[in-house]
Amino acid sequence: MLAIKGGKPVRSEPFPSWPVWGREEEEMLLSVLRSGVWGLGGQMVRRFGEEFAGYVRCRYGVPCMNGTTALKIALRALGIGPGDRVVTTPYTFLATSSVILELGAIPLYVDVVEGGVNIDSRLVWESVDGGVKAILPVHIGGHPVEMDLVEKASKSFGVPVVEDAAEAHGAEWRGRRIGSIGVMGCFSFQSSKVMTSGEGGIITLNDPELADTCSALVNCGRRPNRDWYEGDLLGYNYRMTEFQAAILLSQLRRLDEQIERRQRNFEELARLCRDLEGFRLIRPPEGTDRTPHYLVIIQADGGYFRNVSKQKIVEALRAEGIPASVGWPVPLYRFPPIKRYLEHHGIRISPGEFPNAERAAAEYLFVHHRVLLGDSREVEDVYRALKKIEQHAGDLA
Ligand SMILES: Cc1ncc(COP(=O)(O)O)c(C=O)c1O
Repeated sequence: MLAIKGGKPVRSEPFPSWPVWGREEEEMLLSVLRSGVWGLGGQMVRRFGEEFAGYVRCRYGVPCMNGTTALKIALRALGIGPGDRVVTTPYTFLATSSVILELGAIPLYVDVVEGGVNIDSRLVWESVDGGVKAILPVHIGGHPVEMDLVEKASKSFGVPVVEDAAEAHGAEWRGRRIGSIGVMGCFSFQSSKVMTSGEGGIITLNDPELADTCSALVNCGRRPNRDWYEGDLLGYNYRMTEFQAAILLSQLRRLDEQIERRQRNFEELARLCRDLEGFRLIRPPEGTDRTPHYLVIIQADGGYFRNVSKQKIVEALRAEGIPASVGWPVPLYRFPPIKRYLEHHGIRISPGEFPNAERAAAEYLFVHHRVLLGDSREVEDVYRALKKIEQHAGDLA
């Protein structure tokens, strides 16, 4: 019997906890505490910026408060402003679009690739023209966007690409690190991410002038190596603290081993899940050389689970002991403040315009990456819970 109906859960022990931390984080934090330099003037933020940029294979890293501010700074550094069009995906976390709206720009949505999670690069190629000011693809759950046509569109029309890499630390697409392919990459270190300091963000890039502008925007408009009131920009105080950088330097040392473990466990899960009929594990696209598997994304097939909502399936999975969530239940153009904003600018999305984003929002559920940090017992429990739910789907209707 399903646990949600009073049966025994598949799993009653917890999965590995997140975040993972130890002596290294403790020592780094204490060293900042004892130095008395907790903000401006310390060395940790500078060191972290350099080390993370090196990890992503970029020349510069500009640390900041969080992933949302990283995206906003990147768009502002490119001069994106009122009325500018930015090609992006409607199937992502709110922040990817909210920064576009905050700058008064217009998100030009294109659909998700069929059966996948990311923006359809073929449609990006078809939508970009000389009037578009930026392309903002998102590497959902750590799955790299198929970048070839995105880059072709970028080069053909001279439109810069800003990668939303908030969920893709250490991912690689055809041998290149995510966050180094576009003109800028934006990462988040919010608490659920695969490396975290509770909150935090960084912009990775190669262009020295843009790096200078991003640093200035993060630091009240002050360009590096200039005096406070010599600035030519109005910026923000979006600075990272020394404490955050200290934790992140330690977290970065753990990342590769954790990525390898998650990749191994994901392959094992994919092998087990092959016999499922109601659920489909979404695999990263061809060309993916590496992914941190920030999210395990699972499609609950609408044809199989007739009359059972995604919410109900997620509740059933949670009752079985699996940390599942409904993910993003609506494409962003249906999120009321964005819908109103689009309508205000004369944009109405007609039903059926984005079938793949609608299907993803209706059918994809997320399981947190910590389930892949254990061993084969954890992997089997995820599979057994999915199998049990599909076998008892009728009880959920
Ligand atoms: C795809 C995506 N973009 C942007 C963000 C914003 O990052 P933050 O929460 O650090 O502001 C997040 C995460 O929260 C995200 O998942």
